[in-house]
Amino acid sequence: MIIGLHSFKGGSGKTFVATNLGYRLSEEGKKTCIIELDMKAPSLYSFFESSKFVNDLLMKRVPVKDYLTEVRKNLSVIVASPSVQEIRRDLVRSDVESLKILGRLQEVLAELKSMGFDFVILDNSPGLSYMSVNSMLVSDSIFFVSRAGRDDIDGLKILFDVSKSIEKQKYVILNRVTSDVDFDFPIVAKIPCSCEVSDDPFFVEIHKEHEISKAFNALVERILEIV
Ligand SMILES: Nc1ncnc2c1ncn2[C@@H]1O[C@H](COP(=O)(O)OP(=O)(O)O)[C@@H](O)[C@H]1O
Ligand SMILES: [Mg+2]
Repeated sequence: MIIGLHSFKGGSGKTFVATNLGYRLSEEGKKTCIIELDMKAPSLYSFFESSKFVNDLLMKRVPVKDYLTEVRKNLSVIVASPSVQEIRRDLVRSDVESLKILGRLQEVLAELKSMGFDFVILDNSPGLSYMSVNSMLVSDSIFFVSRAGRDDIDGLKILFDVSKSIEKQKYVILNRVTSDVDFDFPIVAKIPCSCEVSDDPFFVEIHKEHEISKAFNALVERILEIV
């Protein structure tokens, strides 16, 4: 199953969800790979050391296995390059080039499937771009990660509106929730805000009994039902 994580605004928690969801799925024995597609603002490299980057993988016909960094049993990551040159290249990428990259991404996803991966989590760039909207097409399920502020909720409405013609299951993961909120969206998880969140990529590993970890447990249960 290909899980696409998207958001209207940056800093909503896509990467936090990607790493912790990936951790929990791997713990359930599901072979999982996180692919960082936020090439404009890479962040996974600061958690996981790697010398092979998704930027390269999506530009060349190279074996996917050479680009996987196994970070724990059943969990691999493919990180985006933090090099200024690569970030700049992504900023000026044409739509034609983006489309080629998406075509290549489909090949990569097929290869991961043939390697026995059960889940691939796509950590996309925020906002509406040619790349992020098209990336929804390669996912089986789309998860919008959002905070619960008024502007975030307005952003969510825009995301649903723009993706209306994309016939995929769409869900909302509310993150950094501070009060018991409810909205007219298909909310699958409410992840509380906590100042205990640190620089460690796997919060759920360290704080097993925390409310955030319980929210991830419920999310994983839901995802395993959806599959
Ligand atoms: N539930 C939460 N509680 C507290 N801090 C959080 C929570 N979720 C994410 N964060 C923090 O918020 C910041 C932005 O999250 P991040 O996952 O990088 O967002 P995005 O990938 O959507 O840009 C990070 O420093 C992250 O650790
Ligand atoms: Mg991110």
